[in-house]
Amino acid sequence: MQALAGGSGGARPKANVRDGDALWLAKFTSVHDQQPIERVEVATLRLAAACGIRTPATRLELADTPFPVALIQRFDRRGATRIPYISARTALGKTGAELGSYTEIVDFMRSYSSDPMADFRELYQRLIFTILVSNKDDQLKNHGFLYVGSGRWRLSPVFDVNPAPDRNPHLETAILEGGAHDRSINLVLEACEFFEIPEPEAREMIRTTAQRISEGWREALRQVGVSGALARDYEPAFVNDQTATALEI
Ligand SMILES: Nc1ncnc2c1ncn2[C@@H]1O[C@H](COP(=O)(O)OP(=O)(O)OP(=O)(O)O)[C@@H](O)[C@H]1O
Ligand SMILES: [Mg+2]
Repeated sequence: MQALAGGSGGARPKANVRDGDALWLAKFTSVHDQQPIERVEVATLRLAAACGIRTPATRLELADTPFPVALIQRFDRRGATRIPYISARTALGKTGAELGSYTEIVDFMRSYSSDPMADFRELYQRLIFTILVSNKDDQLKNHGFLYVGSGRWRLSPVFDVNPAPDRNPHLETAILEGGAHDRSINLVLEACEFFEIPEPEAREMIRTTAQRISEGWREALRQVGVSGALARDYEPAFVNDQTATALEI
Protein backbone atom coordinates (compact mmCIF):
# COMPACT_ATOMS: atom_id res chain seq x y z
CA MET A 1 0.00 0.00 0.00
CA GLN A 2 1.36 3.38 -1.02
CA ALA A 3 0.49 6.77 0.46
CA LEU A 4 0.10 9.60 -2.04
CA ALA A 5 -0.10 13.37 -1.56
CA GLY A 6 -2.40 14.27 1.30
CA GLY A 7 -3.99 17.27 2.92
CA SER A 8 -7.17 17.74 0.91
CA GLY A 9 -8.46 20.49 3.20
CA GLY A 10 -10.92 20.17 6.04
CA ALA A 11 -10.32 20.07 9.74
CA ARG A 12 -8.86 16.57 9.86
CA PRO A 13 -5.77 15.03 8.26
CA LYS A 14 -6.48 12.98 5.12
CA ALA A 15 -4.47 11.31 2.33
CA ASN A 16 -4.93 9.17 -0.74
CA VAL A 17 -3.66 5.60 -0.47
CA ARG A 18 -3.19 3.24 -3.41
CA ASP A 19 -3.65 -0.52 -2.97
CA GLY A 20 -3.26 -2.38 -6.26
CA ASP A 21 -5.74 -0.76 -8.64
CA ALA A 22 -7.93 0.81 -5.96
CA LEU A 23 -7.50 4.30 -4.53
CA TRP A 24 -8.68 4.90 -0.96
CA LEU A 25 -9.25 8.04 1.04
CA ALA A 26 -7.44 7.68 4.38
CA LYS A 27 -8.88 9.68 7.29
CA PHE A 28 -6.53 9.79 10.27
CA THR A 29 -7.17 9.97 13.97
CA SER A 30 -6.00 13.31 15.34
CA VAL A 31 -4.04 13.60 18.59
CA HIS A 32 -6.74 16.09 19.62
CA ASP A 33 -9.60 13.59 19.23
CA GLN A 34 -11.57 13.05 22.43
CA GLN A 35 -13.79 10.41 20.83
CA PRO A 36 -13.14 7.42 18.51
CA ILE A 37 -14.31 9.40 15.46
CA GLU A 38 -12.70 7.31 12.71
CA ARG A 39 -13.81 3.99 14.23
CA VAL A 40 -17.37 5.28 14.51
CA GLU A 41 -17.33 6.70 10.97
CA VAL A 42 -16.43 3.26 9.57
CA ALA A 43 -19.08 1.57 11.73
CA THR A 44 -21.72 4.08 10.64
CA LEU A 45 -20.94 3.65 6.93
CA ARG A 46 -21.33 -0.11 7.40
CA LEU A 47 -24.64 0.48 9.16
CA ALA A 48 -25.70 2.65 6.22
CA ALA A 49 -24.89 -0.22 3.85
CA ALA A 50 -27.02 -2.53 6.01
CA CYS A 51 -29.89 -0.05 5.54
CA GLY A 52 -29.56 -0.34 1.75
CA ILE A 53 -27.71 2.95 1.23
CA ARG A 54 -25.04 3.02 -1.50
CA THR A 55 -21.76 3.04 0.42
CA PRO A 56 -18.08 2.79 -0.60
CA ALA A 57 -16.01 -0.10 0.71
CA THR A 58 -14.45 0.69 4.09
CA ARG A 59 -11.51 -0.63 6.10
CA LEU A 60 -10.10 0.22 9.49
CA GLU A 61 -6.28 0.10 9.64
CA LEU A 62 -4.14 0.23 12.82
CA ALA A 63 -7.31 -0.83 14.61
CA ASP A 64 -5.30 -2.15 17.58
CA THR A 65 -3.59 1.18 18.18
CA PRO A 66 -4.84 4.51 19.65
CA PHE A 67 -4.57 6.07 16.16
CA PRO A 68 -6.70 4.02 13.78
CA VAL A 69 -7.08 5.12 10.16
CA ALA A 70 -10.40 4.92 8.29
CA LEU A 71 -9.91 3.83 4.67
CA ILE A 72 -12.80 4.67 2.35
CA GLN A 73 -12.58 3.58 -1.26
CA ARG A 74 -12.70 6.58 -3.62
CA PHE A 75 -15.79 6.57 -5.79
CA ASP A 76 -14.53 9.16 -8.26
CA ARG A 77 -12.03 6.87 -10.01
CA ARG A 78 -12.43 4.23 -12.67
CA GLY A 79 -8.94 2.68 -12.92
CA ALA A 80 -6.66 5.65 -13.57
CA THR A 81 -9.51 7.80 -14.89
CA ARG A 82 -11.09 10.46 -12.73
CA ILE A 83 -14.89 10.66 -12.81
CA PRO A 84 -16.09 14.28 -12.62
CA TYR A 85 -17.68 15.09 -9.26
CA ILE A 86 -19.59 18.10 -7.93
CA SER A 87 -20.89 18.68 -4.42
CA ALA A 88 -24.57 19.45 -3.91
CA ARG A 89 -23.45 22.93 -2.87
CA THR A 90 -21.95 23.44 -6.32
CA ALA A 91 -24.92 21.75 -8.00
CA LEU A 92 -27.32 24.18 -6.29
CA GLY A 93 -25.06 27.19 -6.90
CA LYS A 94 -24.93 28.09 -3.22
CA THR A 95 -22.26 30.55 -2.06
CA GLY A 96 -21.08 32.03 1.21
CA ALA A 97 -23.04 31.07 4.29
CA GLU A 98 -26.13 30.07 2.28
CA LEU A 99 -27.57 26.76 3.44
CA GLY A 100 -29.89 24.64 1.37
CA SER A 101 -32.56 22.00 1.52
CA TYR A 102 -33.17 18.42 0.53
CA THR A 103 -36.00 19.45 -1.78
CA GLU A 104 -33.65 21.73 -3.72
CA ILE A 105 -31.39 18.69 -4.22
CA VAL A 106 -34.48 16.84 -5.47
CA ASP A 107 -35.13 19.67 -7.96
CA PHE A 108 -31.54 19.37 -9.26
CA MET A 109 -31.97 15.60 -9.64
CA ARG A 110 -35.29 16.02 -11.47
CA SER A 111 -33.48 18.09 -14.10
CA TYR A 112 -30.08 16.40 -14.26
CA SER A 113 -30.16 12.84 -12.87
CA SER A 114 -30.05 9.96 -15.33
CA ASP A 115 -32.45 8.10 -12.98
CA PRO A 116 -34.35 10.71 -10.92
CA MET A 117 -36.76 8.31 -9.19
CA ALA A 118 -33.91 6.10 -7.93
CA ASP A 119 -31.97 9.14 -6.72
CA PHE A 120 -35.05 10.63 -4.97
CA ARG A 121 -35.47 7.38 -3.08
CA GLU A 122 -31.78 7.10 -2.22
CA LEU A 123 -31.69 10.69 -0.92
CA TYR A 124 -34.85 10.13 1.13
CA GLN A 125 -33.28 7.01 2.62
CA ARG A 126 -30.16 9.02 3.57
CA LEU A 127 -32.30 11.73 5.19
CA ILE A 128 -34.03 9.09 7.33
CA PHE A 129 -30.66 7.57 8.21
CA THR A 130 -29.08 10.95 9.03
CA ILE A 131 -31.79 11.63 11.60
CA LEU A 132 -31.77 8.14 13.10
CA VAL A 133 -27.99 8.10 13.66
CA SER A 134 -27.87 11.77 14.75
CA ASN A 135 -25.47 12.60 11.92
CA LYS A 136 -24.12 16.09 12.54
CA ASP A 137 -22.50 16.45 9.09
CA ASP A 138 -25.30 16.56 6.53
CA GLN A 139 -24.29 19.90 4.98
CA LEU A 140 -24.50 20.34 1.20
CA LYS A 141 -20.76 19.64 0.75
CA ASN A 142 -21.35 16.15 2.12
CA HIS A 143 -23.78 15.27 -0.67
CA GLY A 144 -22.52 15.05 -4.23
CA PHE A 145 -22.93 13.90 -7.79
CA LEU A 146 -20.85 11.84 -10.20
CA TYR A 147 -20.97 12.53 -13.93
CA VAL A 148 -22.43 9.75 -16.07
CA GLY A 149 -22.15 11.44 -19.48
CA SER A 150 -24.55 13.26 -21.83
CA GLY A 151 -25.02 16.09 -19.31
CA ARG A 152 -26.42 13.71 -16.66
CA TRP A 153 -25.39 13.07 -13.03
CA ARG A 154 -26.05 10.45 -10.32
CA LEU A 155 -25.99 10.86 -6.55
CA SER A 156 -22.56 9.64 -5.37
CA PRO A 157 -22.20 6.95 -2.71
CA VAL A 158 -22.66 8.28 0.81
CA PHE A 159 -19.69 9.67 2.81
CA ASP A 160 -18.77 11.70 5.91
CA VAL A 161 -21.51 10.46 8.24
CA ASN A 162 -20.70 11.24 11.87
CA PRO A 163 -23.07 10.43 14.74
CA ALA A 164 -22.98 13.04 17.48
CA PRO A 165 -24.92 12.03 20.57
CA ASP A 166 -24.87 15.44 22.22
CA ARG A 167 -24.12 18.04 19.54
CA ASN A 168 -26.25 19.93 17.06
CA PRO A 169 -29.83 18.73 17.44
CA HIS A 170 -30.54 20.35 14.03
CA LEU A 171 -30.09 19.26 10.45
CA GLU A 172 -27.47 21.28 8.56
CA THR A 173 -29.66 20.97 5.48
CA ALA A 174 -33.38 21.75 5.89
CA ILE A 175 -35.89 19.20 4.62
CA LEU A 176 -38.00 21.75 2.74
CA GLU A 177 -36.77 24.93 1.06
CA GLY A 178 -37.03 27.72 3.63
CA GLY A 179 -38.30 25.18 6.17
CA ALA A 180 -37.28 24.06 9.65
CA HIS A 181 -33.97 22.35 10.40
CA ASP A 182 -35.53 20.11 13.07
CA ARG A 183 -34.30 16.56 13.22
CA SER A 184 -37.81 15.22 13.02
CA ILE A 185 -38.92 11.88 11.61
CA ASN A 186 -42.49 13.17 11.47
CA LEU A 187 -41.36 16.04 9.22
CA VAL A 188 -39.55 13.53 7.01
CA LEU A 189 -42.77 11.53 6.66
CA GLU A 190 -44.77 14.68 5.84
CA ALA A 191 -42.23 15.56 3.13
CA CYS A 192 -42.43 12.20 1.30
CA GLU A 193 -44.53 13.57 -1.59
CA PHE A 194 -41.71 16.00 -2.50
CA PHE A 195 -39.51 12.94 -3.04
CA GLU A 196 -42.31 11.29 -5.05
CA ILE A 197 -42.56 8.47 -2.53
CA PRO A 198 -46.06 7.22 -1.60
CA GLU A 199 -46.79 7.56 2.12
CA PRO A 200 -47.14 3.83 2.89
CA GLU A 201 -43.74 3.24 1.28
CA ALA A 202 -42.20 6.13 3.24
CA ARG A 203 -43.53 4.67 6.50
CA GLU A 204 -42.07 1.30 5.59
CA MET A 205 -38.65 2.83 4.77
CA ILE A 206 -38.62 4.73 8.09
CA ARG A 207 -39.65 1.69 10.16
CA THR A 208 -37.21 -0.67 8.47
CA THR A 209 -34.30 1.77 8.80
CA ALA A 210 -35.04 2.28 12.50
CA GLN A 211 -35.18 -1.49 13.02
CA ARG A 212 -31.86 -2.11 11.23
CA ILE A 213 -30.12 0.65 13.22
CA SER A 214 -31.59 -0.48 16.55
CA GLU A 215 -30.59 -4.09 15.92
CA GLY A 216 -27.19 -3.28 14.39
CA TRP A 217 -25.53 -0.28 16.00
CA ARG A 218 -24.03 -2.01 19.01
CA GLU A 219 -22.43 -4.82 16.99
CA ALA A 220 -21.25 -2.38 14.29
CA LEU A 221 -19.43 -0.37 16.97
CA ARG A 222 -18.05 -3.52 18.60
CA GLN A 223 -16.53 -4.65 15.28
CA VAL A 224 -14.44 -1.46 15.14
CA GLY A 225 -13.33 -1.78 18.76
CA VAL A 226 -15.88 0.54 20.39
CA SER A 227 -17.55 -1.12 23.36
CA GLY A 228 -18.27 -0.62 27.06
CA ALA A 229 -18.32 2.98 28.25
CA LEU A 230 -17.27 4.30 24.82
CA ALA A 231 -20.28 2.62 23.19
CA ARG A 232 -22.57 3.89 25.97
CA ASP A 233 -21.45 7.45 25.15
CA TYR A 234 -22.76 6.91 21.62
CA GLU A 235 -25.98 5.17 22.58
CA PRO A 236 -28.14 8.37 22.55
CA ALA A 237 -27.06 8.96 18.93
CA PHE A 238 -28.63 5.64 17.88
CA VAL A 239 -31.40 5.22 20.45
CA ASN A 240 -33.50 8.31 21.15
CA ASP A 241 -36.97 9.83 20.84
CA GLN A 242 -36.78 9.85 17.02
CA THR A 243 -35.97 6.13 17.06
CA ALA A 244 -39.09 5.49 19.13
CA THR A 245 -41.22 7.57 16.74
CA ALA A 246 -39.76 5.81 13.71
CA LEU A 247 -40.30 2.29 15.06
CA GLU A 248 -44.00 3.01 15.58
CA ILE A 249 -44.70 5.12 12.52
N1 LIG B 1 -15.12 7.83 -0.98
C1 LIG B 1 -14.84 9.02 -1.57
N2 LIG B 1 -14.50 9.07 -2.87
C2 LIG B 1 -14.21 10.24 -3.47
N3 LIG B 1 -14.25 11.43 -2.85
C3 LIG B 1 -14.60 11.45 -1.56
C4 LIG B 1 -14.92 10.26 -0.84
N4 LIG B 1 -15.22 10.58 0.43
C5 LIG B 1 -15.10 11.91 0.51
N5 LIG B 1 -14.74 12.46 -0.67
C6 LIG B 1 -14.47 13.88 -1.00
O1 LIG B 1 -13.52 14.36 -0.07
C7 LIG B 1 -14.06 15.43 0.71
C8 LIG B 1 -13.63 15.29 2.16
O2 LIG B 1 -14.10 14.05 2.70
P1 LIG B 1 -15.02 14.03 3.98
O3 LIG B 1 -16.17 14.92 3.75
O4 LIG B 1 -15.28 12.61 4.26
O5 LIG B 1 -14.02 14.59 5.07
P2 LIG B 1 -14.12 15.78 6.12
O6 LIG B 1 -13.40 15.33 7.30
O7 LIG B 1 -15.47 16.30 6.25
O8 LIG B 1 -13.28 16.87 5.44
P3 LIG B 1 -13.82 18.20 4.80
O9 LIG B 1 -13.94 19.13 5.96
O10 LIG B 1 -12.78 18.51 3.79
O11 LIG B 1 -15.19 17.88 4.20
C9 LIG B 1 -15.58 15.32 0.51
O12 LIG B 1 -16.20 16.57 0.64
C10 LIG B 1 -15.70 14.74 -0.88
O13 LIG B 1 -15.61 15.76 -1.85
MG1 LIG C 1 -17.03 16.55 4.64
